[in-house]
Amino acid sequence: MSATATPTVLIDQDELAARIAALAQEIRHDFPTGQLHFICVLKGAFLFLGDLIRATSGHVSIDFMACSSYGAATSSSGEVRLSKDLDASIEGRDVIVIEDIVDTGLTLHYLQEILRARGPRSLRTACLLSKPSRRKIDVKVDYIGFTIEDKFVVGYGLDYAEQYRNLPFIGVLE
Ligand code: IMP
Ligand code: MG
Repeated sequence: MSATATPTVLIDQDELAARIAALAQEIRHDFPTGQLHFICVLKGAFLFLGDLIRATSGHVSIDFMACSSYGAATSSSGEVRLSKDLDASIEGRDVIVIEDIVDTGLTLHYLQEILRARGPRSLRTACLLSKPSRRKIDVKVDYIGFTIEDKFVVGYGLDYAEQYRNLPFIGVLE
């Protein structure tokens, strides 16, 4: 794998847009009225958040958090550190965590634990991508965009060594 190779398209722009519109409808169907609070996990989920909120009707507020996991560039070590916390309290709110990809599940598990402890009224998770074959921990993801094979993907917010986030599609580095 290299940071200069051209990725091959796995999920194109039209597929992303259609699936994200469907996810937004599913979320609004589950919470027909009231304010939803979307928490974007930086950096990888920023484009997913942008498209998902524009496809979601009604009142939506947003906040951001960031965490880093120690370890190799393409796999998670399981040690997670919060590097940017939320600006606002989530107590009593209907929270949806917006994540780019669930791989081993360790990052998401950690985030869900700390968020749940802060007393939201409800806590759900939306992941654009899921690689179930890599799971190390059983983590609940309520809304999944696409289930993919064990391949390292980039684009549409996801990076390899901070490259490729600007690609408008999800691609595979080979
Ligand atoms: P997990 O803790 O193993 O579930 O991995 C969480 C994080 O690893 C994700 O939020 C991504 O930032 C990163 N990651 C895992 N797989 C990929 C991939 O295929 N491409 C880009 N980043 C990935
Ligand atoms: Mg991430």
